[in-house]
Amino acid sequence: MKDNIVILGIESSCDDTSAAVIRDGILLSQVTAGQDVHRKYGGVVPELASRAHQANIIPVVDTALKEAGITSEEVSAVAFTRGPGLLGSLLVGTFFAKGFALANNIPLIDVNHLRGHIAALFLQEKGQKRDMPNYPFLCLLVSGGHTQIILVRNLFDTKIIGETIDDAAGEAFDKCSKVLGLGYPGGPLIDKYAKKGNPKAFKFTRPAIPEFNFSFSGLKTAFMYFIRDEIKKDKDFIANNLHDICASLQFTIVDILINKFFAAAKSENIFELAVAGGVSANSELREKLVERGKEQGFRVHIPPFKYTTDNAAMIAQVGYHKYLCGEFAAQNITAEARLKRKL
Ligand code: KG4
Ligand code: ZN
Repeated sequence: MKDNIVILGIESSCDDTSAAVIRDGILLSQVTAGQDVHRKYGGVVPELASRAHQANIIPVVDTALKEAGITSEEVSAVAFTRGPGLLGSLLVGTFFAKGFALANNIPLIDVNHLRGHIAALFLQEKGQKRDMPNYPFLCLLVSGGHTQIILVRNLFDTKIIGETIDDAAGEAFDKCSKVLGLGYPGGPLIDKYAKKGNPKAFKFTRPAIPEFNFSFSGLKTAFMYFIRDEIKKDKDFIANNLHDICASLQFTIVDILINKFFAAAKSENIFELAVAGGVSANSELREKLVERGKEQGFRVHIPPFKYTTDNAAMIAQVGYHKYLCGEFAAQNITAEARLKRKL
């Protein structure tokens, strides 16, 4: 295998501007700038996200290169998230990557963001020995924009077994968090408050969706009406029951995800399982996947916490594999907000 291959990865699909450097498949650095500007709006404002990416991209890349001890001239190729995501945000990363490739006369590599989340399962830091999934495995990909069960035969040969027919699991966390007045992103906040709550305190309706598909929009609406009705009876209902509300909501979402995922695994006869995407940072989901896996004889792989939400390391990781196969993009490539969801 060729060595001294240095990939600079760029991720800017939503509200995190991230750059990472990988050499010969080993992660040397990763720098991510979040965007606090969205907090007061309770969700990502696309125009503000795009402007913040523009302000962040150069310092983020500079710092990632410095931390890796790599100069621009030593970079073999630049990999960037082409989509799916917010167009204005994707464009910033795409144009930066094109400019960087042109200026340094190196190849450009386009990466599907969702494939990046799966690749996060294979990220390797120096001197670190990690447990990684063996192919084929079934991956529960849960993020703010997607909820899918994917059969992964290898990083570039994947098949969707089931997916949400409406909202993603992360969206359910975020929208319910907004109803509670907790802020954005909601997942980590609900996770935090749920720790001290009773998961059986309140019961929420579960969707009856066939096969291995999901639906979270009904749960979100039911949750909204539930809170509205309880506030009519007790104006301090949220403050008085915050931990129990969060624990019950999280219990419901996690249970829906896990039940479908294990049912799909049994149906596909696959005993190697993994989870990826922002919602895989959820402590209850991580614990229950491992617990249920042990009980039922599945090997479950969970990515390190820091590579669950959007990051450039996962983009560089896909870039490294595409580099080895010589799969490069042309300079006239564009960002694709709706890049085929089918990987
Ligand atoms: O993968 P990601 O960073 O961005 C997308 O590609 O969408 O995922 C972001 C999503 C948000 O909806 C956020 O609320 C959710 O991941 N999330 C969590 C947790 N941490 C992040 N959801 C539940 N529990 C968490 N601890
Ligand atoms: Zn993502």
